[in-house]
Amino acid sequence: MKILTVVGARPQFIKAAPVSRAVRQDHQEFLLHTGQHYDDAMSDLFFRQLHIPPPDLNLEVGSGRHGAQTAAMLPGIESVALEKSPDWILVYGDTNSTLAGALVGAKLHIPVAHVEAGLRSYDRRMPEEVNRVVADHVSDLLLCPTDRAASNLAREGITVGVLTVGDVMYDAFRQNVEIARRSSGLVAELGLEPDRYVLLTVHRAENVDDQARLGAILRGVTDSGRRVLFPVHPRTRAALASSGVKPGPNVTLIDPVGYLEMLALEDNAEAIATDSGGVQREAYFAGKACITLRERTEWTETVDAGWNVLVGTDSEKIAAAMRDFRPSGARPQLFGDGHAAERVVDALSSSKVSNP
Ligand code: UD1
Ligand code: UDP
Repeated sequence: MKILTVVGARPQFIKAAPVSRAVRQDHQEFLLHTGQHYDDAMSDLFFRQLHIPPPDLNLEVGSGRHGAQTAAMLPGIESVALEKSPDWILVYGDTNSTLAGALVGAKLHIPVAHVEAGLRSYDRRMPEEVNRVVADHVSDLLLCPTDRAASNLAREGITVGVLTVGDVMYDAFRQNVEIARRSSGLVAELGLEPDRYVLLTVHRAENVDDQARLGAILRGVTDSGRRVLFPVHPRTRAALASSGVKPGPNVTLIDPVGYLEMLALEDNAEAIATDSGGVQREAYFAGKACITLRERTEWTETVDAGWNVLVGTDSEKIAAAMRDFRPSGARPQLFGDGHAAERVVDALSSSKVSNP
């Protein structure tokens, strides 16, 4: 079996790592990096830390508006798809790179497999929601992390080729958390005490590109009075610089960190405040309170389990949750058993999708 994997953004490298390893045991993979993320700290660092083979091709599309960036990816992916004639195009998550890979497959009648299918925030203002809805509707194999994701697809009439495999991010977490504990001394280097700081990430366009929302988040974080560590995504760094919005002295800003450092920071945090999809689940995996800086989440299971609270950009709610939200109940295994990647490969090899 020949697989054309399309990745481009930070969380996709992490998701692709366990799957790529499983694919390559018995099958051929061509790894295409669109170049959506390109800083070492957003891209190559993850290939090194997660031992992902270097991409066979990097399209180096770089940053741009949605239309321009997505459009720039299409001809490069299409050329490789035509040249390699893969059995599957494999895409992950909900970025512009996901959308481009899925569209190319659908147009060339090459079967598309979507890992992390069926997630819905039901908020079409989020670019990720548009990407995942379109990707799901043109995919042939819909690999869902949870049964709830599969039910979301059923409500949209997608019932064929749908399989719940578990969350490949949980695979990555399990494979790396011990290594992270042993290898990362970042908590001590930063002068942080375990369980005495809140880890913060903010990067979603709807929060960062809106000065009022970014300001309200940082006001809440500052007013919490907690010691806060904030690895800053480049989008957010640019927004902070241009808006002049600043957090208070209790907040330490650092550059984005590698995956192992991030796992160690999560593991030692007393709580995590974030608008990231990946970090919400990692908070759950690590047994940490998650304060989600959004009005809606596609990971509703973590909210229902009592470990995640949605506070949006309401400064008072953010400050209160950062001080007081500390769940301690049971954490049912919502995201599979850490072997989702093997199930992805099994599904790819056993699914028969006929090319017209
Ligand atoms: C993208 C995804 C988002 C995902 C996030 C993961 C889309 C629409 N969005 O958002 O779903 O959660 O990746 O991190 O696909 N930049 C750099 N260096 C880099 C990459 C980006 O400086 O290596 C800066 C540029 O100023 C760029 C901005 O970040 O304009 C945004 O990058 P982009 O890839 O467009 O979107 P993300 O916010 O990273
Ligand atoms: N991450 C990281 N370093 C950071 C911030 C995040 O390694 O400085 C990891 C994080 O642990 C998670 C993934 O990046 O595995 C989440 O990606 P991101 O928040 O960029 O995107 P999202 O999940 O929201 O699409």
